[in-house]
Amino acid sequence: MNKVFKVGLIGCGHIAETYFRGHQYFNNFKIVACADINQKAAEKCAKLYNIKSMTVNEILKDKDIEVILNLTIPQSHYSVSKKVLNAGKHVYSEKPLATYFQKGKELVALAKQKKLYIGNAPDTFLGGGGQKAKELIDSDLIGQIKLGNAIFAFPGVENFHPKPESWYKKEGGPVIDMGPYFLQHLLIF
Ligand SMILES: NC(=O)c1ccc[n+]([C@@H]2O[C@H](COP(=O)([O-])OP(=O)(O)OC[C@H]3O[C@@H](n4cnc5c(N)ncnc54)[C@H](O)[C@@H]3O)[C@@H](O)[C@H]2O)c1
Repeated sequence: MNKVFKVGLIGCGHIAETYFRGHQYFNNFKIVACADINQKAAEKCAKLYNIKSMTVNEILKDKDIEVILNLTIPQSHYSVSKKVLNAGKHVYSEKPLATYFQKGKELVALAKQKKLYIGNAPDTFLGGGGQKAKELIDSDLIGQIKLGNAIFAFPGVENFHPKPESWYKKEGGPVIDMGPYFLQHLLIF
């Protein structure tokens, strides 16, 4: 039988529901507790998904939890992931890894030093479009690629997000939030 990793979620916002939905298709991890700087958000999430609500410090100290899913806003990814690694737990974070390149590198080095895993969204390159493009490029169909271009047009985050504030703060916005989807494709190809 597979080992089932116990996962703690930090950041009970808009995207958490997608993770709970996707979570049903996996048999190797289980989200068992959640935390948020906004305690009401954590309590609401815990009630909805029948898991434990904790404070961030409690979830980091919980010995049963081996992996933390960091679904906080981009501005908090670095500090939360750093705390997780320093607490001796693996971390998977939403994009971006950090809002500054050096801070992202620091997290990767810290994970290596502590022999912990650090993983990061997006994983959309695993989808059909990305994989087909990679297959065609790898088979040398279009020759050596010299230049990549990505264009993003969007009517505004308010269209779908109930709390768009972080987009309008320092270290937020479309390049930080949506850029990783395009950059990962450009880098992989
Ligand atoms: N919403 C989407 O459609 C979507 C899609 C893909 C990826 N993402 C990514 O997921 C992440 C979260 O997005 P969201 O839309 O759920 O944001 P959100 O603002 O709805 O939720 C973020 C939650 O994190 C909490 N938080 C912030 N800083 C914290 C900290 N230091 N410690 C503990 N909790 C903290 C907030 O209180 C909030 O409840 C972002 O990085 C975003 O780029 C979002």
